[in-house]
Amino acid sequence: MKKLLAAVLAGTMISACGASVMAEGDVLVMATNAEFPPYEYHEGDEIVGIDAEVAALIAEELGMTLEIEDMAFDSVLAAVQSGKADIAMAGITVTEERKMTVNFTDPYTTATQMIIVAEDSDIATPDDLAGKTIGVQLGTTGDIYVEDVEDATIERYNKGFEAVQALLQGKVDAVVIDGEPAKVFVEQNEGIKLVDEAFTEEEYAIAIAKDNEELLEKVNTALNTLKENGKFDEVVAKYIGDGEAEEAETETETEA
Ligand code: ARG
Repeated sequence: MKKLLAAVLAGTMISACGASVMAEGDVLVMATNAEFPPYEYHEGDEIVGIDAEVAALIAEELGMTLEIEDMAFDSVLAAVQSGKADIAMAGITVTEERKMTVNFTDPYTTATQMIIVAEDSDIATPDDLAGKTIGVQLGTTGDIYVEDVEDATIERYNKGFEAVQALLQGKVDAVVIDGEPAKVFVEQNEGIKLVDEAFTEEEYAIAIAKDNEELLEKVNTALNTLKENGKFDEVVAKYIGDGEAEEAETETETEA
């Protein structure tokens, strides 16, 4: 995985140098919160995942080099608003409220909020959350939407995994978090499971500052290209889906 990302980055650099009109060292800064597998997470000292790799490909399309800034999730939108970052890509759900502060690209993924519970839990549907203690990651749509659950107590954590740890320790009755990270956390930990029915359905998009329409257009074009030429799907397939194929692939890469 590491090698592959390095190759992607090297490719980005080559194309940046190749286009002589491009000022050398044109950098696309991406704000993210790398606590969110399989979209962005730490692997050794690298940040990998679907968003990290797609962003590197977008940068390549734009003749730029990607630089990732890791921060708390509830800071990523502010980072693009203030110009600290050019784009925010962090499995960010498009919401009407967020649209008032940033522009969103075309959505690149449909997603869900799912409920994780202990294996022996009596919570079997979203309705059963009423009156329960629910763990969420601070500032996420999970956090926002559980506020509508009747009589629920909300425990907010900086990282999604911390909410899962609280569940494992019996400190919360359930965790509401995005579906793909939920699957990863359930796979990695004994004694917890997913509730079948999703809590919500949503869409992920890349956030860009309101006053940067030019970049919005460029990123949308790049996204479109990557969807059409299959590179986007290749990245997704590497991280989501058949676990065995994924492992086999990782092994070959490390050996190579
Ligand atoms: N999709 C959710 C939201 O937009 C959660 C995203 C969390 N992402 C992260 N990288 N921690 O609020």
